[in-house]
Amino acid sequence: MIAVWGPHGAPGRTTIATALAGALAASGHRALLVDADTYGGAIAPLLGITDEAPGFAAACRLAGADALDAAELDRIASTAGDRPNLRVLTGIANPARWPELGRDRVRGALAACRAVADVVIVDVGFNLETDEELISDVAAPRRNAAALAALESSDAVVAVCEATPIGIPRFLRARRALVDRLGDAVPVTTVANRVRAASGGLDAAGQVRQALRRFGGIDDAVLLPHDPRACDRALGAAAPLTEAAPRSPLARQLRALAASLAPVGRSEDSLP
Ligand SMILES: Nc1ncnc2c1ncn2[C@@H]1O[C@H](COP(=O)(O)OP(=O)(O)O)[C@@H](O)[C@H]1O
Ligand SMILES: [Mg+2]
Repeated sequence: MIAVWGPHGAPGRTTIATALAGALAASGHRALLVDADTYGGAIAPLLGITDEAPGFAAACRLAGADALDAAELDRIASTAGDRPNLRVLTGIANPARWPELGRDRVRGALAACRAVADVVIVDVGFNLETDEELISDVAAPRRNAAALAALESSDAVVAVCEATPIGIPRFLRARRALVDRLGDAVPVTTVANRVRAASGGLDAAGQVRQALRRFGGIDDAVLLPHDPRACDRALGAAAPLTEAAPRSPLARQLRALAASLAPVGRSEDSLP
């Protein structure tokens, strides 16, 4: 289970989560893509899924009633076009529905997801703040509980940083909160997204690496190029970017990232 997280400011979580799931499905894994963003789901429109009901909220509801089994999950999960290996639990299009994604329900739903897929990719909201101090009722629902529960349920986290002078410090601050929360239990792969090509003699990639190393102690970040054409093709085709623009530099890098996270052949280990 891989959580794709990133701070506010749209660093590219959904684009990357969808592409990773698409790439893993194309390489033979049974992939389940889950939209757990309580600030508004975006995977359904990105993949052209028009089902009315949000699949992940339905899964959470059933998990809360202890009624989510593999058959129910199979019934709820959307298909995304003609991709037999890719299933999707769509998110809440209406952000006001966030209370449906409570912590225990999210945990239960994700546990059931594990049982039906080789790899589960979870697109989580940006916000990790806990508002205990603000809410006197300890049992009150919390909007960020879904993200925290998903991160804590995952085996690995892809942390997405927008590779700009605004995005990097924002990311480093938020990443500290993430690591404080998760400790060393879950490995975090930093992905610097939208790295501009070198221009005017400036080595953009080198500068991004240096900033992450110097201010965040991160020396193994994966860099993804700024590639608006590939993103537009994915949007236009309502398909994962790795499929819509397969030869783009961004797709190549995303396929490599997917392979490093879940090498082909590993899926066999999880078969009964
Ligand atoms: N590597 C990239 N190059 C160019 N545009 C990108 C890249 N990654 C994401 N984008 C664009 O940035 C916007 C926000 O991406 P999205 O994945 O929705 O972010 P988030 O889920 O973090 O809010 C989208 O318009 C997307 O097409
Ligand atoms: Mg998103």
